[in-house]
Amino acid sequence: MAYKDIYAAWKSDPEAFWMNAAQAIDWDTPPTKALFDDNAPLYEWYKDGMVNTCWNAVDRHVENGRGEQTAIIYDSPVTHTKRTISYVELRNRVASLAGALRAKGIEKGDRVIIYMPMIPEALEAMLACARLGAVHSVVFGGFASNELAVRIDDAKPKAIIAASCGIEPGRVVHYKPLLDGAIDMATHKPDFTVIFQREQEVAHLEEGRDYNWHGFQYGVEPAECVPVEGDHPAYILYTSGTTGQPKGVVRPTGGHLVALNWTMKNLYNVDPGDVFWAASDVGWVVGHSYICYAPLIHGNTTIVFEGKPVGTPDAGTFWRVISEHKVSSFFTAPTAFRAVKREDPKGEFVKKYDLSNLKQVYLAGERADPDTIVWAQDQLGVPVIDHWWQTETGWAIAGNPLGIESLPVKLGSPSVPMPGYDVQILDEGGHPMKAGELGAIAVKLPLPPGTLPTLWNAEARFKKSYLEHFPGYYETGDAGMIDEDGYLYIMARTDDVINVAGHRLSTGGMEEVLASHPDVAECAVIGVTDDLKGQLPVGFLCLNAGCDRDNADVVKEVVKLVRDKIGPVAAFKLAVVVDRLPKTRSGKILRGTMVSIADGKTYKLPATIDDPAILDEIKVALQSIGYAQ
Ligand code: COA
Ligand code: AMP
Repeated sequence: MAYKDIYAAWKSDPEAFWMNAAQAIDWDTPPTKALFDDNAPLYEWYKDGMVNTCWNAVDRHVENGRGEQTAIIYDSPVTHTKRTISYVELRNRVASLAGALRAKGIEKGDRVIIYMPMIPEALEAMLACARLGAVHSVVFGGFASNELAVRIDDAKPKAIIAASCGIEPGRVVHYKPLLDGAIDMATHKPDFTVIFQREQEVAHLEEGRDYNWHGFQYGVEPAECVPVEGDHPAYILYTSGTTGQPKGVVRPTGGHLVALNWTMKNLYNVDPGDVFWAASDVGWVVGHSYICYAPLIHGNTTIVFEGKPVGTPDAGTFWRVISEHKVSSFFTAPTAFRAVKREDPKGEFVKKYDLSNLKQVYLAGERADPDTIVWAQDQLGVPVIDHWWQTETGWAIAGNPLGIESLPVKLGSPSVPMPGYDVQILDEGGHPMKAGELGAIAVKLPLPPGTLPTLWNAEARFKKSYLEHFPGYYETGDAGMIDEDGYLYIMARTDDVINVAGHRLSTGGMEEVLASHPDVAECAVIGVTDDLKGQLPVGFLCLNAGCDRDNADVVKEVVKLVRDKIGPVAAFKLAVVVDRLPKTRSGKILRGTMVSIADGKTYKLPATIDDPAILDEIKVALQSIGYAQ
């Protein structure tokens, strides 16, 4: 069947479509129906089924004869380590870890925070939670103690599983002191922690609270899989919103299993046994869905890569891994390709490796610029597919479903909506717009299985953030258009979220940190265009009246403050001191106009601007740091 037939089949009978897709999952009790809409506009999928994620991702493959197949390949150029774990080994390791967690009191519904780098033990920790029906929340290693503390207070975990350290090129990230700091800062205290001690750093363990990963598994009974309801939360993943308080996206168990499994063949075009590699991090949604869960649920081999696209040791790392491990589908962020392209524009490294197993490449996480796509197509000689999704959805809203049909690629477009998503472009009043017109991108409710049913402990915020602006729709927060052929174009965010190296960050969150500096009276953070990372944050500071400190010192201090409070991942290195911020007469800071000035774009003078002369001052300030040229 062609894409349009499959999409039409979903649209005419979504219930049959999703019940059919659910058959690929092993249920302890099969659901009697797919969609539960009695609580609309909040929807649930497969709610009356009973199922276990770990069984579907691990045990069933052992039962079905894939036990000796490699489940996980660990390739770590930063520690010069390579290791494989078969499905049967993974089953035994996860059952043992789950048994030890259970022995310490972890049960279905308990939250467990995981703070780990890109090592197989991170996936094992996630799967061990899933085995017990515990709800994990993975926190990205590039976040500082304060961010971890905010998540501890929101998720209220009974336990935290962490590694002693992470390795960034040229430095060791000391996870344990960051974890200790976060627990000190948080109001909620976990009962215990489990620390995976790495060779590179052995952390100090606090007697009675911190347990050694290996020691605490000694002599315990392995745990069996605990069936949970289809709508039981599989995990919580925090993502940036407009404020410093992150949103806890809830992932429901049943829909997650069904939807991810569906994507592996239909979108990513792999069969069980094929090697699938997503070069992201378990701390992001891409890592949850496509390093850990989807490839394992589908019986693929996944790769845990602890390295960077460049510098570990060179711009040929991606091609070495693809060649050595016979990767069939490769998924990365455009920024990673831009980094490789900058170091190896002619693809000298590509020529050194046999990439004959590679069938296709997928890009997501930020807008894929046409230059990068064309470069990758030329170098690799395979389809390079842009696809668009969000932490909230957990899988692609739009893409080019190569496993169904290879649709013509249109540069700048992540192609067409996936079954389950009725994507529409709306004007401010919520009316559908015509082809080619720019507006807010919304998805008609209900969203498909696997997408967020709510935010953790924040139903009112969920409704306000996503459902209230356009009743009957989910508001994506992205703006764009759909062309005459039904192809989507994602142009910009409609909120204060920016995208730095494929990482979603809140400028509002950074502003809260800047405002906490004693000399800062007022501030704004905008995302300016960057050739490598897509966007970079730039801070504008108005100092308190009478402050006679050297501007450069204050800038240095706020840069350090953001690194300490949010973390290095914020990539906040640029700030300028200005006398005033441009505002509308009602006091709204004109961030959009500031972005246009920084990027050297023409802009319309906002009719409501308070004092247009301030824009010239902003331009001069931006020029002092190399922008607004
Ligand atoms: N733990 C601790 N620190 C981390 C980290 C982690 N897991 N990941 C990144 N950081 C740090 C980096 O070391 C860097 O610190 P620095 O300021 O001391 O240099 C900082 O956070 C910013 O990181 P990043 O924006 O990733 O830039 P980079 O210079 O390290 O690398 C790229 C640039 C383009 C090579 C890199 O961003 C990359 O590979 N991105 C891939 C994007 C991706 O996977 N996105 C996920 C969504 S698909
Ligand atoms: P995250 O939740 O971190 O995955 O970030 C989701 C956001 O990243 C989206 O709402 C978009 O703004 C942006 N994004 C992700 N993928 C794409 C894409 N293929 N094209 C354009 N923007 C994208």
